[in-house]
Amino acid sequence: MKSILEYDTVSLSDDGTALVIIDQTLLPGEIKLLHLTGQNEIWEAIQALRVRGAPAIGVAAAIGLYLAAREIKAGERGAFLERLHAAAEYLNSARPTAVNLSWALRRMERTAHQTAGGAEEIRAALHRECLDMWQEDIDVCRRLGENGLSLVKPGDGLLTHCNAGALAASRYGTALGPILLGQERGKKLRVFADETRPLLQGARLTAWELARAGVEVTLICDNMASMVMKNGWVQACFVGCDRVAANGDTANKIGTSGLAVLARYYNVPFYVLGPTSTIDLDCPTGADIPIEERDGEEIRSLWYREPMAPAEVRCWDPAFDVTDHSLISAIVTEGGICRPPFGESLRELVSREKGDAP
Ligand code: MRU
Repeated sequence: MKSILEYDTVSLSDDGTALVIIDQTLLPGEIKLLHLTGQNEIWEAIQALRVRGAPAIGVAAAIGLYLAAREIKAGERGAFLERLHAAAEYLNSARPTAVNLSWALRRMERTAHQTAGGAEEIRAALHRECLDMWQEDIDVCRRLGENGLSLVKPGDGLLTHCNAGALAASRYGTALGPILLGQERGKKLRVFADETRPLLQGARLTAWELARAGVEVTLICDNMASMVMKNGWVQACFVGCDRVAANGDTANKIGTSGLAVLARYYNVPFYVLGPTSTIDLDCPTGADIPIEERDGEEIRSLWYREPMAPAEVRCWDPAFDVTDHSLISAIVTEGGICRPPFGESLRELVSREKGDAP
């Protein structure tokens, strides 16, 4: 059986004409690769969570924008850049919460503006830039995984929510990175995975990818987490993030903040793991993070043979929540581990990673 690390979650096809993704809506039943070329199908793939997870949608959008640039007719430079901007805005509208999406598109547009010449030169620069971002994402996840691994001992139990693994990034993932690295090195960790209602990323993706990697994983319903903590079965929580505000408030999959409240009660350290690109210093607090709301049918009927609630009942389906910074023990990035007070530690980390003078 192939480990998930042997697949690319997101990539540019060898001939450079398509975004290649694993369709995550079909997992764990079927591993199907999709080759996407048009902007509408790339937008749809991000919106429908065929490709998902903050770093993965950033890289997918960067490749998507390169593909858009291939389609824009060469002509006057200004007009070309305007059409590129329109394509970036369109892709950015697919999902609002993960800042990696807008971060990646802004970086691609900056590259376009900084490249001298016309359409041909800009396309070549965008091709290089999206491949660089893909490679950087792999390197970043590996470094982040090493940092996360320093927080645990062999045999520790960890609780995770949603999927922040290899499927959510270019490889290794963030919150699952230390676990996958630990497994490769014989530093075995035991994992409890929340199934993660309503879209079941924990059951369909995390349990699947960890089991394929040989990690000891136990799947639980979200409402079982407090019992797992009370029983002393986990020594830490490891979760990913979609946007970290300047004060450390963190948006992640709905249910994360409840887990953090439980972890505080049971004295279990609560770690958020993510790349520096997920830190949004322009967002002062969690109250400024846009929260995606999805179709309530995901709750009522998506996984059932018959709807599990009456048709007339309103379902509220926020996809993310914000964990207050006061509940977070540390934020683990590729550049180091930030501890409270996060207002200072995050700012320092970001300027260090950008290479700013102290
Ligand atoms: O809606 P999703 O599946 O894209 O949500 C994903 C998460 O919440 C992840 O925890 C987050 O993006 C970090 S992925 C490394």
